[in-house]
Amino acid sequence: MSSLAGKTGLIVGVANKRSISWGIAQAAAAAGARLALTYPSERLEENVRELGATLDNPLILPCDVASDQQIDALASSIDAECGGVDFVLHGAAFAPKDELNNAFVQTSREGFRIALDISAYSLIGLTRAMVPLMKKRGGGSVLTLTYLGSQRVFTNYNVMGVAKAALEASVRYLASDLGPDNIRVNAISAGPIKTLAAMGIKDFSSIRDVYKERTPLRRNVELDDVAEAAMFLLGPSGRGVTGEVLMVDAGFHVMGGA
Ligand SMILES: NC(=O)c1ccc[n+]([C@@H]2O[C@H](COP(=O)([O-])OP(=O)(O)OC[C@H]3O[C@@H](n4cnc5c(N)ncnc54)[C@H](O)[C@@H]3O)[C@@H](O)[C@H]2O)c1
Repeated sequence: MSSLAGKTGLIVGVANKRSISWGIAQAAAAAGARLALTYPSERLEENVRELGATLDNPLILPCDVASDQQIDALASSIDAECGGVDFVLHGAAFAPKDELNNAFVQTSREGFRIALDISAYSLIGLTRAMVPLMKKRGGGSVLTLTYLGSQRVFTNYNVMGVAKAALEASVRYLASDLGPDNIRVNAISAGPIKTLAAMGIKDFSSIRDVYKERTPLRRNVELDDVAEAAMFLLGPSGRGVTGEVLMVDAGFHVMGGA
């Protein structure tokens, strides 16, 4: 039997076919899960509906993670249709363009607020809304996506690095709160992958060039590398793992200088 057969999953963060969330959605669907996909705005609705149409019996629902009302409405719709949820993938992140182009010291109060709200707080809000649905299934698995820029300085990553540090700390606090309900909370820290969000980072392709030379595996990671690691954390094989940030970066993080 496939590892996610009979399971229901919520996938937040599909923008197009390059999205890491879409890679994970495809792997989860192949492992037997029924999925709810979300779109944050009308602009992206058609993309998400087109991709969703390739899945078996998907739910396609609106959710701007900046809105508590939309998060609550999402939870109600999934509960009404599926009577609970087994896993949640949080793949939403955003920072205003100026914050990724200017020097970090120029970070504005509003840019900081938006980046931290969409990219870090939303994990807390989304998870809280989904707790009752996961409890109905006897527990669940929540997964988010982060980057090494939380710990080290990468040129132009700027306030997103601060947001990812907050996100990773939130993973640990949520794991502690929700473990007694058999709800696990983890993150995958992915190496750089060419996606819409990544292309918003100035000179992003040069980061990929550096990784190719410096990682122990001498390559970059691709969508399927992250998607298969996600299957471990979302499914039964990861049942003993929570509060973890799993590095899926071809080993880049272990390297020192020279
Ligand atoms: N691509 C990389 O190199 C890389 C590396 C490590 C981590 N990540 C992380 O992976 C996650 C997914 O990013 P991606 O690279 O697949 O790019 P992406 O652009 O495909 O995905 C980002 C998603 O965030 C969504 N989003 C933005 N604002 C939102 C809002 N208000 N409400 C709901 N959704 C919103 C977008 O619609 C989009 O679907 C992000 O957290 C990103 O930081 C990416």
